[in-house]
Amino acid sequence: MKNVILTGDRPTGKLHIGHYVGSLKRRVELQNSGKYEKIYIMIADAQALTDNFDNPEKVRANITEVALDYLACGLDPNKSTIFIQSHVSELTELTFFYMNLVTLARLERNPTVKTEIKQKGFGASIPMGFLTYPVSQTADITAFKADTVPVGEDQLPMLEQAREIVRSFNGLYGETLVEPKAVLPENRSCLRLPGTDGMAKMSKSLGNCIYLADSEEEIKRKVMGMYTDPNHLKVTDPGNTKDNPTFIYLDAFSTNEHFAAYLPEYSCLDEMKAHYERGGLGDMKVKKFLNAVMQETLAPIRARREEYAKDLNAVWEMLKKGSAQAKEVAAQTLAEVKKAMKINYFAE
Ligand code: TRP
Repeated sequence: MKNVILTGDRPTGKLHIGHYVGSLKRRVELQNSGKYEKIYIMIADAQALTDNFDNPEKVRANITEVALDYLACGLDPNKSTIFIQSHVSELTELTFFYMNLVTLARLERNPTVKTEIKQKGFGASIPMGFLTYPVSQTADITAFKADTVPVGEDQLPMLEQAREIVRSFNGLYGETLVEPKAVLPENRSCLRLPGTDGMAKMSKSLGNCIYLADSEEEIKRKVMGMYTDPNHLKVTDPGNTKDNPTFIYLDAFSTNEHFAAYLPEYSCLDEMKAHYERGGLGDMKVKKFLNAVMQETLAPIRARREEYAKDLNAVWEMLKKGSAQAKEVAAQTLAEVKKAMKINYFAE
């Protein structure tokens, strides 16, 4: 049996290079590997609404942005089904049945949800929709019988929760659903790319992101302004490459070909790091090289994005078609779920 992929993103902003190395790049590779029977890429608008219910316009506008980012990175609607979550109403029905299999205490223990609750300052007034989004995420995955979910590290608790729900469903009602597993990036630096300011995570609210849609000038300005090692004051000072976002980005993005093309005095990143660590390599030079690497990586993505942005009607048409396809598959699973639960009262 071939494998099935499902993954997705909340449309709350344009996608950035953290999304790219953390998941997007991998999805495109998996898509083009031909090893997967089906690939579903979901724009999680309903999940985005769980903490943006007061701003549906924002979610709507960002559906276009995320779809453009997908296409720009090489997700191909002829190979992958790209769809909008809220258009597949079967997901909501599945969520309702899965809710019976999860306790409030279990949801409150989910570490990602816990962190988000703190960040958003919900206090004791946690919206139910928000608290239960891991259940709806289980519906997203299981509706397509996905066994492979390429995501960032922060999504691991969601996958754990999904596996628990699947086991409990199958145990109660008989083998129906497929247990999914997460696929994380192999390169550690890609797991969680820090912000340009050195903060642990890229986030729109911190203003420390490099977006896939950024212009050449914006990329340059952001790279040249990046946080480095604060103790590396003089060029001759020994420097730290470990917690230094410029080197973490180079870990994630640079190749030996980049060195040959832009900085031939080193053959690879390890040589450059060794020089920085013993002293004698200035931040300016590191940033100039990083800028060359980022420009080369992002220019073709940006060009494709601009091309697709010329015809937004075609983008929405693609999403409509993908959503209709996804709905058919989810309806099939929902029928199986109802049968397993013996609530298919009017079936033959
Ligand atoms: N939670 C994911 C995010 O914040 C989006 C998402 C929703 C998702 N449903 C999913 C990811 C199912 C993987 C599988 O970006």
